[in-house]
Amino acid sequence: MITRTIPSTGESIPVIGMGTYNTFDTNNKSAIDSLTAVLNTFYQAGGRLIDSSPMYGNAERMVGTLTSKAPFANELFYATKVWTRGLQQGIKQMDHSMDLMDRKVIDLMQIHNLTDWKTHLPVLREWKEAGKIRYIGITHYTFSSYDDLEKVMRAEPVDFVQFNYSILEREAEDRLLYVAAELGVATLINRPFGQGRLFTHLKNEPLPHWAADLSIQSWGAFLLKYIIAHSNVTCVIPASSNAQHMADNMKAGEGTLPDERTREKMAAYVRAL
Ligand SMILES: NC(=O)c1ccc[n+]([C@@H]2O[C@H](COP(=O)([O-])OP(=O)(O)OC[C@H]3O[C@@H](n4cnc5c(N)ncnc54)[C@H](OP(=O)(O)O)[C@@H]3O)[C@@H](O)[C@H]2O)c1
Repeated sequence: MITRTIPSTGESIPVIGMGTYNTFDTNNKSAIDSLTAVLNTFYQAGGRLIDSSPMYGNAERMVGTLTSKAPFANELFYATKVWTRGLQQGIKQMDHSMDLMDRKVIDLMQIHNLTDWKTHLPVLREWKEAGKIRYIGITHYTFSSYDDLEKVMRAEPVDFVQFNYSILEREAEDRLLYVAAELGVATLINRPFGQGRLFTHLKNEPLPHWAADLSIQSWGAFLLKYIIAHSNVTCVIPASSNAQHMADNMKAGEGTLPDERTREKMAAYVRAL
């Protein structure tokens, strides 16, 4: 698995992580077996960073339930978010997330969609100082929020910025990916499959014959290799509830990455379908 460096510390993390929106939001006991297979596949392929949020229903609890039974629990990198307004509400929510995820330390605490960020940021700084969290981040999921993400990054030191980026939604290439690199902020990429819509678009289409030159055998790997080939991407966090999909996706983190010309060819191919 290819790794990237978190600029603020020099720590390495595997370039493919895992999202939990929808996929881990279940109480269903029968889902535990299939999600255990998803988590094991992720870990065995070299994945470490798991991203959740109190916004994702039962997902944080499911992360805690599954990882607490895993022998590799302490090797994972746990990211979640604060998604509420008000100082005390934020503290209460973050403490609750740590209980649900069964963690004494959260690796990355992010301010979800910049919600009430001016209130939460000083608390995150205190918690980082106290060792309760290791990194601070901010997130959003729409192109229209990029200016706001940039303003916060320029005004306040943060370790991570999370935003949307995919082969058909490339706006982050215009500016945000470069601003993050310039400021030494690690990037987490959400919605790499446009929340799954890219598969609806591509599922009956053939991969181009030249994908084999990049050791690509699935659309999942094709779409993710496009993203991680951007050198300013630190980690992409696709979500899946299906172990076979997870295995396909994780393969993107191995082998050759496309150069700039090939990336353009990949985007043009998908656009034309
Ligand atoms: N504001 C924020 O902070 C924010 C906003 C959005 C997202 N996020 C984070 O980013 C993560 C990723 O975004 P997302 O979950 O919205 O969307 P996504 O990762 O772009 O797409 C997920 C969907 O793709 C499908 N999928 C995955 N691999 C597949 C494969 N190989 N073949 C076919 N289908 C496949 C999944 O279905 P299956 O289950 O069937 O595989 C799922 O429905 C989230 O889970 C969350 O952690 C954060």
